[in-house]
Amino acid sequence: MPPDFDQQSYWHTRFESEKAFEWLMPSARVMEVLSPQLQSLPRDSAILHLGFGTSDLQNHLRGAGFTNITNLDFEPIAIDRGRRLEQQAFGDVRMEYLVADATQLHLPCKFPLVIDKCAADAIACGGEHAVLSVARSVAKHLAPGGIWLSLSYSASRFQIKGLPLEAEVLTKLPIPKARPTDPDLYHYCYILRHRHPARP
Ligand SMILES: C[S@@+](CC[C@H](N)C(=O)[O-])C[C@H]1O[C@@H](n2cnc3c(N)ncnc32)[C@H](O)[C@@H]1O
Repeated sequence: MPPDFDQQSYWHTRFESEKAFEWLMPSARVMEVLSPQLQSLPRDSAILHLGFGTSDLQNHLRGAGFTNITNLDFEPIAIDRGRRLEQQAFGDVRMEYLVADATQLHLPCKFPLVIDKCAADAIACGGEHAVLSVARSVAKHLAPGGIWLSLSYSASRFQIKGLPLEAEVLTKLPIPKARPTDPDLYHYCYILRHRHPARP
């Protein structure tokens, strides 16, 4: 990734022309990957979706019956577009849309589920301290027993000293090959949660 993926100015310029783009994988595939976690979640649970950009993942979540979704991005163009996309798909706007920096969150509530698809990857272009900042932000807003599901290009996204959450790879997803001789490459779905008090 180019180093300026952590900069709002980069996304502002990009979203002036980009109307729809899915990083990593289409939203229908994300819903399949996350289905074990989503199935066990009450439909009125508060969900925080970080850095949704020009994705339509939030509409898939609403389509699956979730009613309490906050979609957040630091680029206002994404917010306007997200609202329009929901209006087009459902005929009304019921989700929350928030312009906010995911590395400095001050929200009034906590969430049993936080999701990001490639937002932590973009933030990571700002260095390890930026990943630590988003992890601290999420840790502050994770409800007791809550989880953060993070979809990433990186095999080592959360291997950072001082991470305030426990992180493990939930699923390693093979990237389809164009030719059989192509290398084995993967996307990663991480699950992060508060550390168990008994574990350091
Ligand atoms: C790689 S794109 C992923 C977009 C979308 N989730 C997807 O999967 O297609 C990264 C997104 O994160 C947003 N972003 C990057 N840094 C951010 C930050 N510190 N706070 C909030 N949003 C951020 C960008 O504006 C962009 O929409």
